[in-house]
Amino acid sequence: MVENKLKNIIIDDKSSIEKTLKKIKSNGQGACFVINKKNKIIGVVTDGDIRKLILKKISIKGRIKKYLNKNFFYLPSETESHEARNKLGKGRKIIPLVNKKGLVTDYVSLTKNKEIPLVKPDLNGNEKNYLIDCINSTFVSSRGKYISLFEKKFRNYYKANYSLAVSSCTAGLTLALNSLNLKKNDEVIVPNVTFVSPINSVIHNNAKPVLCDIDEKSFTLNISSLKKLITTKTKAIICVHTYGHPCDMDKIRALIKNKRIVLIEDCAEAIGTKYKSKKVGTFGDYSIFSFFGNKTLTTGEGGMILFKNKEDYLKCLSLRDHGMNPKKKYWHDIIGFNFRMTNMQAALGVAQLEKINLLIKHKINIAKTYDKYLKNFKKILIPKTEIWADHSFWLYNIILKEGNEKTRDNLIFKLSQAGIEARPMFYPASDMKIYSKFKKNTKLSKISYRGISLPSYIGLSAEDIKFICKKIKNSVF
Ligand SMILES: Cc1ncc(COP(=O)(O)O)c(C=O)c1O
Repeated sequence: MVENKLKNIIIDDKSSIEKTLKKIKSNGQGACFVINKKNKIIGVVTDGDIRKLILKKISIKGRIKKYLNKNFFYLPSETESHEARNKLGKGRKIIPLVNKKGLVTDYVSLTKNKEIPLVKPDLNGNEKNYLIDCINSTFVSSRGKYISLFEKKFRNYYKANYSLAVSSCTAGLTLALNSLNLKKNDEVIVPNVTFVSPINSVIHNNAKPVLCDIDEKSFTLNISSLKKLITTKTKAIICVHTYGHPCDMDKIRALIKNKRIVLIEDCAEAIGTKYKSKKVGTFGDYSIFSFFGNKTLTTGEGGMILFKNKEDYLKCLSLRDHGMNPKKKYWHDIIGFNFRMTNMQAALGVAQLEKINLLIKHKINIAKTYDKYLKNFKKILIPKTEIWADHSFWLYNIILKEGNEKTRDNLIFKLSQAGIEARPMFYPASDMKIYSKFKKNTKLSKISYRGISLPSYIGLSAEDIKFICKKIKNSVF
């Protein structure tokens, strides 16, 4: 009997080349293990092998048995998976784990689900109950009790005046900027190193993003660079609290004092972050959050805008719903969007909010554990936090010492071989062709080329972190 989890990767030796190719295409692993009638593995076939057969004009109706690679690499089934992953690479993309009877019990590959993902949501509270409630009530679309409940609970958590649930943070940024009626030469200052959503939102609103250098300690807006970029054309500043470190809000506010510049906080990565003991998200005219699946609080996809002013809230309320007049259905005063959140997303949000303090605490503990194992390792820099900052560590990042840009990608690869998902830090937007025209100064920080984001999900154990850190130490020379 072939185990269910292996059915898409195992094929019997009587199968045709054509059938094998189809299986390889559908399993996404680039290979199949071929077994005989006793279910014993007798060879491995890769998509590359089949391509060669096709080039040689061998009929695809022929049996795969004749063409498989019998001299394949395998490991005993009891091999620890991180050890097995260590053997991947150098052209070896997949390894079967085989027991004494010759049966495949599992396999490791470069593309198989990572065992230590970068992030994954914690859905072990009331999420399921509230979702079932939505289904039982039939309110699965953008009406239902959970939407206003989520808005209210979120607003209360932040002691904010107004809140509006939206379909994503990007939708929230787009709405906020749209409500400002930006014109062609209006400028909005954004950080040069960020997930690109705020930059795109400015462009989609016909205005010009101005790329501001980042501070190499906090990874947020560099204040002296920001000061030089503020002009009479500046209509808004988007403060992104990148990776969970707050922007220097006092300094930013001082720079725009008595100017008609709107302050937008992008808190996508910063739920739980504080600036001088005050939650970020409480400073901006608009503060916008993301609840994408990799965020500290998730609704699958989703976002929230917090507002200081009723007028801004009312405008975005209408814009969110096709520009419809909230008091007169199907009467449209402005050209709007459909950026509504569904009741099901909001139900998840309510369940997640019930444990928000715990979720944040876990993230901070993860960072402390990484610090413990990495702080004395001289070849990398661990995250620095400003004295006025309470970092919420959406992602924990390490920076390789200068001159190690190439080592960075190699380290990510080595970690992936060990089943650890790590990713490069965000690239400077100014280095991408589509955004380079938005830079005003030429010397912008390149530090993110040396940065790696490490697994940071709630539930990541201290043992996992120790293992990751050991792997890092063994891989950086
Ligand atoms: C800083 C920042 N802004 C905006 C977004 C976009 O969020 P969403 O996926 O909810 O649109 C992200 C997503 O990761 C982000 O990191």
